[in-house]
Amino acid sequence: MSKPVAIVTGAGSGIGEGVATHLYSKGFKVVIADLNPTTGEKVASNLGPDAKFIQCNVSSYHSQALLFKQAYEWGGNRLDFFHANAGIDDRQVLYDSGDKEELDDEGLLKPLNTQTMQVNLEAVIQGLWLFKYYVRRSKEAGGGKGKFVATSSAAGLYSMPQCPQYTAAKYGIIGLVRASGPVFVKEGITVNAICPAFIPTNLCPPEVLKRWPKEHITPLSTVNKAIDAFLADDSLTGQAVELSQENIYFREQVDYANESQRWIGTQSHEIWDEGYAVGKQPLKRNGY
Ligand SMILES: NC(=O)c1ccc[n+]([C@@H]2O[C@H](COP(=O)([O-])OP(=O)(O)OC[C@H]3O[C@@H](n4cnc5c(N)ncnc54)[C@H](O)[C@@H]3O)[C@@H](O)[C@H]2O)c1
Repeated sequence: MSKPVAIVTGAGSGIGEGVATHLYSKGFKVVIADLNPTTGEKVASNLGPDAKFIQCNVSSYHSQALLFKQAYEWGGNRLDFFHANAGIDDRQVLYDSGDKEELDDEGLLKPLNTQTMQVNLEAVIQGLWLFKYYVRRSKEAGGGKGKFVATSSAAGLYSMPQCPQYTAAKYGIIGLVRASGPVFVKEGITVNAICPAFIPTNLCPPEVLKRWPKEHITPLSTVNKAIDAFLADDSLTGQAVELSQENIYFREQVDYANESQRWIGTQSHEIWDEGYAVGKQPLKRNGY
């Protein structure tokens, strides 16, 4: 039987490199996807012949779609695992003022740079869209079950005032997995998110790394504990798993405020399904 195939984005460094290495050791063929060819090639060649570097900018749909097609073909028409992990911090801060707020020729304020949302959230949604397509086409080669993992953050459960877009994107990932995880699992695809606390990587500004107290560091081995939990259980889906120090915590959504909200959250799905005719026709919404 052919080996299972994984793609990890942002695998040229930090958490992605750690997860790619872990999956490789568990017998996966692993695609190291990263914007940076120097680090990406290095990680792939250190792993060995069942690893391949594919350069990709996840914020370009074309680039990510090409990544999936190439990975699927390299894996022998098979894809089993996707870790949407590439991420960046805020490239422009919402609080900017003065000469950082530029006007265009019409005197209108130029938009905020929202690259963080494209890389950290939109690319994750497109990645799930692409992953589902290729998992469904993996049956003949021995696959057909899929594991999707996205890297959210502790900032997606709490907040990080220094990076409001980062916080919004990481919250968005949790919404994505909680909404779609219970649906995708019906066809054998689990959809989960990890929410790491502080892991020293290249993402963290050097000044922060220098001052960070050792007791508040989460090791990469804790990420692998969550990955192992997802691999071991085909019914584990829609989960946001917080990673802090040596521990992993399965975090529930907030409790319902009252019984009416509980009814809407748990009992109204049939009405919504019929209204949206899920899977049958394009959504129709009053005049929009
Ligand atoms: N380090 C932490 O403490 C921490 C905590 C919570 C969440 N995270 C998240 O973990 C993920 C990985 O971050 P990390 O800490 O390992 O950082 P890192 O900087 O070490 O690794 C990120 C990798 O993503 C790549 N990348 C960036 N933009 C890309 C793009 N457009 N297309 C493809 N690759 C791209 C970079 O080249 C880099 O190799 C991110 O989503 C980050 O938000 C990190």
